[in-house]
Amino acid sequence: MSSSEDQISQRVPQHVAIIMDGNGRWAKAQGLSRLEGHKQGAKRLRDVIRWARDAGVKQVSLYGFSTENWKRPKLEVQGLMALIATMLSLETPKMMEEGARLLALGDISSLPWLVRKALKRAMNTTKGNTSVDVILCLNYGGQQEIIEGIKNFCSTFNTDAEKENALLKLTPESFTTCLNREDILPVDLLIRTGGEKRISNFHLWDAAYAELYFTDTNWPAYSESDLKAALDDYVSRERRFGKTSEQVQGDADE
Ligand code: FPP
Repeated sequence: MSSSEDQISQRVPQHVAIIMDGNGRWAKAQGLSRLEGHKQGAKRLRDVIRWARDAGVKQVSLYGFSTENWKRPKLEVQGLMALIATMLSLETPKMMEEGARLLALGDISSLPWLVRKALKRAMNTTKGNTSVDVILCLNYGGQQEIIEGIKNFCSTFNTDAEKENALLKLTPESFTTCLNREDILPVDLLIRTGGEKRISNFHLWDAAYAELYFTDTNWPAYSESDLKAALDDYVSRERRFGKTSEQVQGDADE
């Protein structure tokens, strides 16, 4: 890659993670049920993924269902699960057309059978696609993910001495390999819609240096200009990764 291409690619976030909040409030404002809000929210996904891909984004993570969302009313949880399974089946041909590969994060094993089946089928069908990765986070919790990583790390040793030795050498990079996933890039930009300003247990590990962007737009109303505003704002940020501004400017001049 030439240095000018390198500079351009650094201006587009490679991995954008989205907390799709505000479906319920959007629905209430329209006099609709919460589930209708989720349906309209699910419909937004296709366009948003295409806009992101066309802008040069390589991975889009979507917070579809958190480990804490099981606490919602039973009917809403059932409706969301049915919606996710239906959307996965309906959208697979479109993902093939668009060259999108589906990946998943979260404890998939505890999801209803219908969702697991639709997810496995969609991931298998799209596994050769290379235009953009869509990372569906289902029954996902950032803290739980880190705990699972610790368990994976500990399970690989036969003796305490081996474990102690590995602990001394442990780095963030090496721990990332314990997190049960392949190919997931660090999150560059984390967008939350719906006006709240928190990260709600999403991508705690991968978003260590993410730029955070909050918008009042509720997810079902999210538009191309909303995404463009987030990407433009990202370009204006100076990503320092712990360095000083002078050092970062110096790196760019090299
Ligand atoms: C938050 O809005 C949204 C969710 C908990 C679910 C997001 C799910 C979708 C957009 C559909 C998923 C479909 C697929 C295929 C991933 P909220 O209900 O908390 O809204 P509120 O804060 O206004 O009540």
